[in-house]
Amino acid sequence: MNTFRMQLRFLLPLVATMLVTAYLALPLMDKLMLHWFSRDVTLRGSLVANSMSDAIEERLADDSTPRLQALFDRVMQDERLVAIGLCVDEGAPLVHTAALPASVTCAQLRQASLQDSARMQLDGGGVQVSVYPVHDSVGQRLADLVLLHDMSFIERRSKDTQHYLQLLLAGLGLIIALITMVVAQLTWRGWIAGARALLSGEGLIAPPTIRNAPELAPLAFDLRARLRNLEDEYRRGLGPETEWTPERLRSLLKSQLRGDELIVVSNREPYIHEQGPNGVVLKRPASGLVTAVEPVMRACSGTWIAHGSGSADAQNVDDHDRVRVPPGQEDYTLRRIWLSPEEEQGYYQGLANEGLWPLCHVAHVRPVFRESDWQHYRTVNQRFADAVVAEARSEDPVVLVQDYHFALLPAMVREKLPRATIITFWHIPWPNPESFGICPWRQELLRGMLGSTILGFHTRYHCKNFIETVDRYLEARIEHEHSTISHQESDTLIESYPISIAWPTEAQRLKWPDVATCRAQVGEKLGLPPNHRIVLGVDRFDYTKGILERLYAVERLLERHPEWIGQVSFVQVAAPTRGALEEYREFQQRVQRTADRINARFSKDGIAPVRLLAEHHEPDEVNVLYRAADVCVVTSLHDGMNLVCKEFAAARDDERGVLILSRFAGAARELQEALIVNPYHVEETAEALHRALSMPEAEQRERMASLRMTIREANVFRWAGRMLTDAGRWRLRERIEARLKQHQTVA
Ligand code: F6P
Repeated sequence: MNTFRMQLRFLLPLVATMLVTAYLALPLMDKLMLHWFSRDVTLRGSLVANSMSDAIEERLADDSTPRLQALFDRVMQDERLVAIGLCVDEGAPLVHTAALPASVTCAQLRQASLQDSARMQLDGGGVQVSVYPVHDSVGQRLADLVLLHDMSFIERRSKDTQHYLQLLLAGLGLIIALITMVVAQLTWRGWIAGARALLSGEGLIAPPTIRNAPELAPLAFDLRARLRNLEDEYRRGLGPETEWTPERLRSLLKSQLRGDELIVVSNREPYIHEQGPNGVVLKRPASGLVTAVEPVMRACSGTWIAHGSGSADAQNVDDHDRVRVPPGQEDYTLRRIWLSPEEEQGYYQGLANEGLWPLCHVAHVRPVFRESDWQHYRTVNQRFADAVVAEARSEDPVVLVQDYHFALLPAMVREKLPRATIITFWHIPWPNPESFGICPWRQELLRGMLGSTILGFHTRYHCKNFIETVDRYLEARIEHEHSTISHQESDTLIESYPISIAWPTEAQRLKWPDVATCRAQVGEKLGLPPNHRIVLGVDRFDYTKGILERLYAVERLLERHPEWIGQVSFVQVAAPTRGALEEYREFQQRVQRTADRINARFSKDGIAPVRLLAEHHEPDEVNVLYRAADVCVVTSLHDGMNLVCKEFAAARDDERGVLILSRFAGAARELQEALIVNPYHVEETAEALHRALSMPEAEQRERMASLRMTIREANVFRWAGRMLTDAGRWRLRERIEARLKQHQTVA
């Protein structure tokens, strides 16, 4: 539309100029035409006069007026002659044809012929008068032959000519206008393309140009980088279209689920009271589950039921085993469940962590299944299910069941509270049907899980594996289109909900020490020189996290790129976990031995390349490490999601630092701007470390900014919000169906 307006602006003056020119030119053309025609007529008359002169002379000699008259009448056949006369003196013509009035004298005729246009008016209109002398054989003038030419045809022709000229000009105008429009279009497009090419740098760095002007390449690179930064800043400034916040989640709970209570069930509790040498301390466990679910509970409030595993937990509850948390804010209730050592051994260490954990993670550790563990698992699931029923204040609470510790619980709750909305989230991967098939209680576990209203996994791939497993081992109706499974008259929606973290608030960020301070603190604590490079790993001390593979990669880095020796240290936070299990103890010892070996090989000037911090770190301490690190490495061999990578990016408000991420972590599907590696490929991870340590700041910034934007948008409130929205819809559908059934029964 703009192009069209521009063209109009250009065309209108052009066409107007053409019309004015044509208007001024037409009379001139007309005059010129008349001149040409009159000259033709005169020439023609001269021919006629010449051809008649002999005959006239002869007839004058004979004094034969009738013969002259006959001659004149014959010549008059020519349609363009109006009249002919023969003048011998100044009076009336001697002989003349009928059209010449008798009153017209020869003097008048001669006078008219001498005038500029040689015109005179007769009754029939304008005529041109031409006078041609007639001589005898010796050259003596005998008379004048007067020819009166019809000029009306000239006028007719002049009008026709004007008409054709106008048509010609209009046609020309049109053609010129069309050509102008086409040229303008092409030029405009050319300009646009040119401008675009310039902005995108094509014009500067396209192969032909760069060949001609390689000196422009750095300029084009800078220009493009600047443009990208501006665009990023603009997008970040806009913020997520509809950001998920605690407030939004709260109001969703009220509107979609009519303010219903929220009950969370998990094995791990969000706050642990431990008896320390100086009294009771409150600990936050190293758990992705807790990191994700706690902000949701603080936003929505309700009751969180979990195993009271802390040594001082029992002293810090009321008569109903409840305590309000977080201390000082008391946003929700933590209900603690007590387990005997045998129960903890069978249900938690045994079936959950020696059986289901390795079963679901492809980490090449053989699952162990014991009948006694299974019995404890059932008992504990029932205990927690009873607690849910006891805590519920209505018949239809929303229950969020967390993880593989409670596969049987959904069906147990459903039995007592048929109208409850049960959302089970499986935080670890789901294997393929063949792998899952080795579990002796596969059908019981699947049936228990299908007591859920919604069953969530991190990825579509895990959903697909689960549906195929049910298809293989249970009699159930599967609707692939809607991703639902109908089993024993109840439906379960199988859906993917990628879990995340709560994006740090402005108030939280203001409390963070700046990056330089964090680096100084970490450097001081670990005895590292200034500007020493830090590669960081933060994990539970678990064999699925790829800590050994990471160490092998660090070792290979120092072998292949010795310039890093003494320049970089790998700091691994390894939170103690499941230390009662032999598999874990052996793994942890192996890691320690490997770290020692690498340190023995590559320590320089008293600086060890590997620092293994195998102790509990509070979230604030971990945040300082995240902010101090140059590189964060997440090399899980198999991981449902992994939240360390998201926490690292969230901590880097300076938009620096590089993330190396395993392709076997669910997060790799979302965080494409990380350096994605196969942790089993030691050389690949070593090269990724080298690349990360050598990465220019501009590239770090670009990648980090994009990672941060993704995580900020897909935060944990969105994770919970999507599940609760689906649950709300489901509940509404069930209520409508129940009412319909009632009506049908009454009818
Ligand atoms: O990754 C599975 C998971 O249950 C997480 O949800 C949690 O972060 C972690 O294991 C905790 O393990 P544990 O409770 O055994 O220390």
